[in-house]
Amino acid sequence: MAHLLHLDSSADPERSRSRALGRTFADAWLKANPSNTITYRDLHARPVPHLADASLHWPARLRPAGSHPPAEAEALQTELIDELVAADVLVVGAPLYNYSLPSTLKAWIDHIHVPAVTAPFDVETQPMKGKAAVILSSRGASYDAGTPTADWDHEVPALSLILGSALGMRITVIQTSLTLADTVAALAPQLDRSNAELAAAHRAAAEAATLFGTSAAAASA
Ligand SMILES: Cc1cc2nc3c(=O)[nH]c(=O)nc-3n(C[C@H](O)[C@H](O)[C@H](O)COP(=O)(O)O)c2cc1C
Repeated sequence: MAHLLHLDSSADPERSRSRALGRTFADAWLKANPSNTITYRDLHARPVPHLADASLHWPARLRPAGSHPPAEAEALQTELIDELVAADVLVVGAPLYNYSLPSTLKAWIDHIHVPAVTAPFDVETQPMKGKAAVILSSRGASYDAGTPTADWDHEVPALSLILGSALGMRITVIQTSLTLADTVAALAPQLDRSNAELAAAHRAAAEAATLFGTSAAAASA
């Protein structure tokens, strides 16, 4: 049996591609092993508040003298970190908003990335080390290598840095681009590519869920 933490952050409950990819992943996860389980968190429908106090970036023993973060905020942070650490695999629906993360997803990151708790600082703690993190990236336009906008996506690099380098997770990026090709006239000539990328992303999501859902279940058996 293996446990998945599934996050969504798209503000579009109807047409979201990252939400659809997440559903494909979750379905294949449960099929991979009938005893696999899922915790689902919709960061748009039920947003995590902004970090209440900068001192929450640290465990209590490293906080500046005299800092007293609100107990309620600290309890929420503990809940979010416990929820993450309980997971064998993390899947994150990650729409590109203003070349960056949706603010709802960033608020979650601000709570769970805590030096000396989830990332190394003065102690080598990395409870998520070696676990898989799957980023389901959906982007209205395209940012192809060799084009002038190649490095305009600041979401996937930031998530990879935090979940991969800081938390030590193994990152898989599944991407669907040109999602606006069916609504924005200027992108319409690229509709075939958009559809092909989406279909490939669904296949990749199902494959990753089957692989991680089987191997993580075997590892925890
Ligand atoms: C607030 C907002 C900002 C956006 N900013 C960008 C952007 O910077 N670059 C881009 O390619 N698409 C941008 N888009 C389009 C989304 O990336 C695109 O619609 C994507 O499919 C959203 O993911 P979803 O389908 O999972 O909702 C933006 C959409 C919204 C709602």
